[in-house]
Amino acid sequence: MSQAWWKKSVVYQIYPRSFRDSNGDGIGDLKGITSKLDYVKELGADVIWLSPIYQSPNDDNGYDISDYRAIMKEFGTIEDFDQLLAEAHRRGLKIVMDLVVNHTSDEHPWFVESRSSRDNPKRDYYIWREPRDGKEPNNWGNCFSGSAWEYDPQTEMYYLHCFSKKQPDLNWENPQVRQEVFDLMTWWCEKGIDGFRMDVISMISKKPGLPDTDPQGAKYGSCLPGTCHGPHVHEYLQEMNRKVLSRYDLMTVGETAAVTVEEAKKYANAQGTELNMVFQFEHNDLDTRGGLVGKWCLDRMDLVKLKEILSRWQTELDGKAWNSLYFCNHDQPRIVSRLGDDSPKYRERSAKCIATCVHMMQGTPYVYQGEELGMTNAPFASLSDYRDIDSIRGYHDMVDSGILPPEEMLTYMAFKSRDNARTPMQWDDSPNAGFTTGTPWIMVNPNYKEINAREQMARPDSVFHYYKTLISLRRNSPLSDLLMNGHYTLLLPQDPELFVYQREYEGQKLLVACNLSGSTRKLEGLPQENWELVLTNAPVEKDTLLPWQACVFKNF
Ligand code: GLC
Ligand code: CA
Repeated sequence: MSQAWWKKSVVYQIYPRSFRDSNGDGIGDLKGITSKLDYVKELGADVIWLSPIYQSPNDDNGYDISDYRAIMKEFGTIEDFDQLLAEAHRRGLKIVMDLVVNHTSDEHPWFVESRSSRDNPKRDYYIWREPRDGKEPNNWGNCFSGSAWEYDPQTEMYYLHCFSKKQPDLNWENPQVRQEVFDLMTWWCEKGIDGFRMDVISMISKKPGLPDTDPQGAKYGSCLPGTCHGPHVHEYLQEMNRKVLSRYDLMTVGETAAVTVEEAKKYANAQGTELNMVFQFEHNDLDTRGGLVGKWCLDRMDLVKLKEILSRWQTELDGKAWNSLYFCNHDQPRIVSRLGDDSPKYRERSAKCIATCVHMMQGTPYVYQGEELGMTNAPFASLSDYRDIDSIRGYHDMVDSGILPPEEMLTYMAFKSRDNARTPMQWDDSPNAGFTTGTPWIMVNPNYKEINAREQMARPDSVFHYYKTLISLRRNSPLSDLLMNGHYTLLLPQDPELFVYQREYEGQKLLVACNLSGSTRKLEGLPQENWELVLTNAPVEKDTLLPWQACVFKNF
């Protein structure tokens, strides 16, 4: 396992709907992705994670699958996929598929059958319960809005859905369901794909008896305590590993809501009996609140806490499991607007600073499309600008019930909505940022004239080139072994602006110093070594970090 290829990989996540439209219908597609493989290659990432491309009614942009062996018609055909895979492999790029098997679409034939009668052979593929006192079987809230239960008049029972009612949860306790999942995974492995990113995989084993959680009643995500890390989750993943994963040379990463370091050591154990790594959420949840408010607020991440969390994951998993390193994906607002400073003065420097902080740690880094350009949040102004089910439902929850005035909620959405990550990739300064010749399915961020790939590829001090350097340091440089294996130590833990840490491997050391603030800071109190500067994003002044400056030093 110490030689596993994915330990040296950098993953580039593509959200197909927003990456590149090849036929002018305003929706990104597989041919569009194939046409941009050289771009990913140029950046230096070696793995592409594709958000779901399967047939879907798109209630949640493909995270509601109605046929696991077919391609969403807007995205193309299975032949287009075969071509994408072949072209990727020809360039030495691997393809990791999103695997969404905690739930299906309600339009999946399994669910259509399951709901048709109480004694249908597929009834038990999903989680059906009798009403309790004429109402929902328990008080769980789903992760978007309202109850996690939907009443089905045809059979007078409720089914469980931890996300929208068009995403019914599969019943993993049923061995036939598990076998169906293993079969479809095998089908994709036989096609030659290189791995899976497993959607909310920590939720597949529900707490026995489905007990009530919060006594206040259904709230956002209040199904999580009853669904995350349930009693059989590790057993199911070990079965999946035996029956599918261990038979191929794959990379696997589990999206594990509510995961702790202790749980992660099981999911991503170094013996390789389950998954290779997981996505944890402790750091990205730092600027969210509990209860009804959830993420809808303007809170900022507390840097001292952020350092504590990321450092704990670094030191606790070292040698025992493997970290995934990320801030950005299709569910998170843009990090330069969230944690950095997206004003013209510091946008590029702060984007590079945050990237340095992430990429010099131990684990596998994930770059989300446009992050490598320092793409920002979008100037969404009204509800009609949004497409994301989570944002639209959230708005109605908060505003229709009078909890928040519309303007206030719209301010929070502009800061936190998932749609901030889903505006089209900014390729160049031609109309619609070169994403489409038609009408894009969601607004293009108007700042594409300044922020776009073509401009940045031509400019050596761009965010793009900086990411390229970070990636090549890890992939192919004298620092590679140290970056992969080096032990991590946090320095200056209480400093509210500086994120400073050291990596150490076989006598070689790396010092990473990032000023995550707009003030100029003295760099003092650090271990005395013969430090040599490897990389920085701003002019060098002795013992000083300029606003948003990052410096990487080595001692060999
Ligand atoms: C995961 C996905 C998210 C989706 C949800 C339900 O969190 O990343 O986009 O809405 O699962 O599938
Ligand atoms: Ca298209």
